[in-house]
Amino acid sequence: MKFLFAALFMFLVASPCLCVRIIADDQILLFNVMNYGAKGDGQSDDSQAFLKVWQVVCVATHQGTPVVLVPKGRTFLLQPIVFNGPCNSASINVQVEGKLVAPESVAWKWPDNNKDTWIKFSDINGLVINGGGTIDGQGAAWWKCCSNRPTALHFHNCKNLQLSDLTHINSPRNHISVNSCDGAHISNLHMFAPEDSSNTDGIDISTSSNIFIRKLEIKTGDDCIAINSGSSFINITDVACGPGHGISIGSLGENGEYATVEEVRVHNCSFTGTQNGVRIKTWQGGSGYARKITFEDIHVVAANNPVIIDQHYDAYDAVRGSAVEVSDVTYSNVHGTSAVDDAIQLNCDNSIGCTNIMFYDINITSSAPGKKTYASCNNAHGRFSLSTPNISCLLY
Ligand SMILES: *[C@@H]1O[C@H](CO)[C@@H](O)[C@H](O)[C@H]1NC(C)=O
Ligand SMILES: *[C@@H]1O[C@H](CO)[C@@H](O)[C@H](O)[C@H]1NC(C)=O
Ligand SMILES: *[C@@H]1O[C@H](CO)[C@@H](O)[C@H](O)[C@H]1NC(C)=O
Ligand SMILES: *[C@@H]1O[C@H](CO)[C@@H](O)[C@H](O)[C@H]1NC(C)=O
Repeated sequence: MKFLFAALFMFLVASPCLCVRIIADDQILLFNVMNYGAKGDGQSDDSQAFLKVWQVVCVATHQGTPVVLVPKGRTFLLQPIVFNGPCNSASINVQVEGKLVAPESVAWKWPDNNKDTWIKFSDINGLVINGGGTIDGQGAAWWKCCSNRPTALHFHNCKNLQLSDLTHINSPRNHISVNSCDGAHISNLHMFAPEDSSNTDGIDISTSSNIFIRKLEIKTGDDCIAINSGSSFINITDVACGPGHGISIGSLGENGEYATVEEVRVHNCSFTGTQNGVRIKTWQGGSGYARKITFEDIHVVAANNPVIIDQHYDAYDAVRGSAVEVSDVTYSNVHGTSAVDDAIQLNCDNSIGCTNIMFYDINITSSAPGKKTYASCNNAHGRFSLSTPNISCLLY
């Protein structure tokens, strides 16, 4: 009964047209963008139609989850667009079954409050985005022309985000950024951009906690996943990365910044032909820490720098004697082949060093026949056992 009233109310509030379909059994309200003026022909600008839907959905007050439907078989051209919360529903589902495309030209119309993102979701709780569709950032023109480029999909100040079952291609810069979020499940995404498209990270995480990433395929031109300052309790599992630059913590501490990352677990991930495997990179002159980090069940195939800690990430002109502290890092069951001979590089700061770095059950051989791998160290402290190569700078 309560639902019926809510639905009726919604109907009155929401209906510039007779376009709200009510599916009573699972209490879902469906908002099809086609009913709000979207053309879905890939040529017309559908941004206003999407914003119109959002205005209606965001104020919806009925029980259950309103669903914004982006129907399949159609292509929706969106200019840079911001979907703002907070919204009334505890959860909103954006079901992308069709394709979203950015304009092909770099001369986008920017909204006043957002000059660096194509699609931004801000201040929304319980946002669910899925549907099996495709998001195409049309980045090719940007890669050629500009160092200042937009992120394709940006989540800011979100709570309990769920993002799954999408293909995401050719972002002008990083494909997804998750910033100031608490609680996110990101799964079953396929991300593709050419190997030589610079800065096309898969997912960038910053100032966020309780982020769970599972089952992604990422082949792009930069980091598959980067975990930046202010992040903690990040679980990454079942990610197939490569080509790309691997999974990175950092870079941290640029321009003398205080940076923190802790409680990160990277599990069952593969790195095929990547520029790095699992990497921690910090700048000299910074402060703070990267600690309590575990890399477990990692498979490398002809990866460059399969295991690397670099506390001299761009040492040029840096302040010396201070660094982001790296400690309590565990590598266990890391195996496969390296395209470089120094398969394990622990390049720690001369004064601060890295502490409690643990290796168990490592077997990284050379991808070149007849060559041997080795570990190189600078001021690294910890232990190893069962390791090829022998990490003789650590205690056995
Ligand atoms: C992350 O991994 C740790 C260690 O396995 C586990 O205890 C924790 O529950 C995981 N967190 C999530 C959100 O899955
Ligand atoms: C590990 O991840 C791969 C995807 O890269 C997946 O196919 C496989 O099932 C995962 N293995 C386990 C034991 O979860
Ligand atoms: C390490 O891997 C190589 C190549 O797969 C294999 O031949 C070798 O037996 C492995 N060593 C250990 C100690 O498992
Ligand atoms: C590792 O190398 C060191 C120094 O070369 C040597 O003393 C040690 O026995 C080696 N350990 C293993 C487990 O091979």
